[in-house]
Amino acid sequence: MYSLRYILAAVLIAVAVTNAVDNGLGLTPQMGWNSWNHFGCDINETIIMQMAQAIATNGMAAAGYNYVNVDDCWAYSRDSNGVIQSDPTTFPSGMQYLANYVHSLGLKFGLYTCAGTETCAGRPGSEGYEAIDAQTYASWGVDYLKEDWCNTGNNNPVDLYTTMSKALNATGRPIFFSLCNWGVDNPWAWGPDVGNSWRTTGDINDSWDRFLQILYAQIPIASYSGVGGWNDPDMLEVGNGGMSNLEYTTHFSMWSLLAAPLIAGNDLRSVDAATLAIYTAKEVIAVNQDKLGTQGTLVKSLNQGDQQIWARPLADGSRAVVLFNADDTNTFTIQLNWGDIWLSPNQAMTVRDLWAETDLGQFTGSFTSATIPPHGSVMLRVY
Ligand code: GLA
Repeated sequence: MYSLRYILAAVLIAVAVTNAVDNGLGLTPQMGWNSWNHFGCDINETIIMQMAQAIATNGMAAAGYNYVNVDDCWAYSRDSNGVIQSDPTTFPSGMQYLANYVHSLGLKFGLYTCAGTETCAGRPGSEGYEAIDAQTYASWGVDYLKEDWCNTGNNNPVDLYTTMSKALNATGRPIFFSLCNWGVDNPWAWGPDVGNSWRTTGDINDSWDRFLQILYAQIPIASYSGVGGWNDPDMLEVGNGGMSNLEYTTHFSMWSLLAAPLIAGNDLRSVDAATLAIYTAKEVIAVNQDKLGTQGTLVKSLNQGDQQIWARPLADGSRAVVLFNADDTNTFTIQLNWGDIWLSPNQAMTVRDLWAETDLGQFTGSFTSATIPPHGSVMLRVY
């Protein structure tokens, strides 16, 4: 006879396994590339293959970018058995062929679907087809699924995303599950049981104002993000041309500090050296990928928010810091006090510039930056 305690433990384990996303993925924020921010619906298999080639050879794969993700507009119809078919004009070789090609370069392959009846661009969605779609993706060798939230009617996001989460688990293939319901139903509260990341806002666009809005929206929800399940403030716009390189450097610094997914969103066939240098900044990425997985947040704001200090603790006990000049016209120096980053004032600490990859020296109690231009930032590690 089994004891009551044994039965209770077995039930608890069973509940835990069936409710939680069970793929072992997302131990650090995902890194990769996605077609939407630059190409929108204007994609085809040649473009995706060229992006995969670029990532494999331009230093991005070596820097940690491994997912090549096709967003909306690849799906076209369902066959008589309900199996999803790719667009015959733009993806004539099919998604399995594309997955094989991406895998042959040592990279992983991601696809997009929508929890509703149709995607946001009007292609077939997964509602009612979760099990067959998950099996199809797994059979093609898909490693990552982003699931959007258009055309979902009165459905509850927890229900629809849980249905897909269980369908993915049931395939036995580890498939990273990226939820995309734009933060409207507090996905940070239930997302950790269902997926590996969840969008926290509506879409980003390639502008400073939108970047700032999304950045500030992350402050109240920082504590919900962590190992296995990440707040997703949306994909990167670095290299798309709407902001200056100084602004893109701040965008990338902040997304790294936030432990956000680092999903490049530009055209990698024509990437310039300055853009590539931002995407492959080794010590900045190391903060993003830190094993402790703590999302950084705003710890001090001065001068009506013009001078901001953002910080997070790292696994080795050091601190990552972004000193940010949010003003549109004035330059500032910014003083960091050890008390701002959970250190006692009389400690002597080394301050390292993570973009320059150089130590700036030893300081006791505080560190004052050089002059920071408007929209600029300094990213440091204090150890
Ligand atoms: C929504 C998502 C975007 C993108 C588009 C595709 O807007 O939030 O990231 O996937 O749909 O149609």
